[in-house]
Amino acid sequence: MTTPRKSIHGQWSGRMAFILAATGSAVGLGNIWKFPYIAGEHGGGTFVLVYLFCIALIGVPIMIAEVMLGRRGQQSPVNTMEYLASEEKRNESWVLLGWLGIVAGFLILSYYSVIAGWALSYVFRTGSGMFLGATADGVNSIFNNLVSDPEHLLAWHTIFMVMTMVVVARGVKNGLEKAVTFLMPMLFGLLLLIVGYAMTTGHFQEGFDFMFIPGKIDGNAILIAMGHAFFTLSLGMGAIMVYGSYLPKSTSITQAAFAIAIADTTVALLAGLAIFPIVFANGLEPDKGPGLIFQTLPIAFGHMEGGTLIGVSFFVLLVFAAWTSAISLIEPAVAWLVENRNMSRIYASVWIGVLTWLLGLGSVFSFNIWKDNTWSLPYLFKDANFFDTLDYLTANIMLPLGGLFIAIFAAWLMRESSSREELATWPLIYRGWHFLTRYVTPVAVLIVFLSAIGVIKL
Ligand code: PFF
Repeated sequence: MTTPRKSIHGQWSGRMAFILAATGSAVGLGNIWKFPYIAGEHGGGTFVLVYLFCIALIGVPIMIAEVMLGRRGQQSPVNTMEYLASEEKRNESWVLLGWLGIVAGFLILSYYSVIAGWALSYVFRTGSGMFLGATADGVNSIFNNLVSDPEHLLAWHTIFMVMTMVVVARGVKNGLEKAVTFLMPMLFGLLLLIVGYAMTTGHFQEGFDFMFIPGKIDGNAILIAMGHAFFTLSLGMGAIMVYGSYLPKSTSITQAAFAIAIADTTVALLAGLAIFPIVFANGLEPDKGPGLIFQTLPIAFGHMEGGTLIGVSFFVLLVFAAWTSAISLIEPAVAWLVENRNMSRIYASVWIGVLTWLLGLGSVFSFNIWKDNTWSLPYLFKDANFFDTLDYLTANIMLPLGGLFIAIFAAWLMRESSSREELATWPLIYRGWHFLTRYVTPVAVLIVFLSAIGVIKL
């Protein structure tokens, strides 16, 4: 018998509220900013295919597992793991999984906020009309002017962190649901519009082929594709677990996970289809790095009918998408402080917000005064600055590691009767999930880790 448990944070109003909030967490800078630039850096084709495989075979099963653990535990990830470990009579060090997530969320938000700051500043840049008729060179130098100026970056990073803290302090459920309902479909519509523009550039086919025709790939790129599957679905660090803990018992977790993964993947693919044709039409290189969308999309806004309005709306919605993801990045830490230190949500958010902001300074400086302070880690990365290092360690190591442990706990250590009861789905779907989470997911993550460090060759 399990003891009935109730979250002290309240519950979502229903299934749709959870799907919207989790989609808000999943769809963010990862889809629109990061996916195109890492796909560009790793040659497109095969990278995109590996990413899609990882979403289907690793991402979806782990998302189901993570939401399930959250809903059963009904608390912040640290306390959820403590509760579940005792319920299943397992070692109490499983709480470390919760801690790994809190640290990962804090590290990710520190640089996420800096990039969201770029998007914020582009709302105003686009609005001022400075991209009208702009050339690739002009757009490039506008971007370089922004990132080479630490004071500007700091100001935008600060504004974004304050925005995030205000919402987190009020409680994630107030308003999030309504806002996501309207704004997500709008973002989707605008992306379609930009893809429509990309079709008129005469290089759409080239962009399409770049994204979908397989080529060569190395072990490290496979790790980056897998890491991105975790990053983009917000998995492996407790964000989806804590949202799952606010989920009413009656909701089908499996259906929700499919819906979220499909929405998230569609947005990323649309972003790629919007960007790569513009890259090729303007003689640019797809491997421009983190500035890619800021150096390509403004060209489209500068040349399309109504481009200023479309561009401003696009960056507003991108900031919004980043905002709903940022909120979920610190929710596990805030929920823990509220539960364990008896803090009010307001205090907890301010504390964590200030610490994250401070760490973010490292990423602000990574694009200017600390740009050349780099180091290398054999097999994993070369010449990485502070920002590159944080991004690599969190997305490609910490999240997959978190996901691996979530899969092990959910499919090996939790009794089948518990997971069956919690998922309450058709026997065939349950079997499929259990098989994937027990065998396929952990083995795949381990193989990818081993191939990245050169132990095996794929
Ligand atoms: N999924 C978000 C994105 O793609 O932008 C980023 C993210 C949010 C990662 C929450 C991890 C997380 F827990």
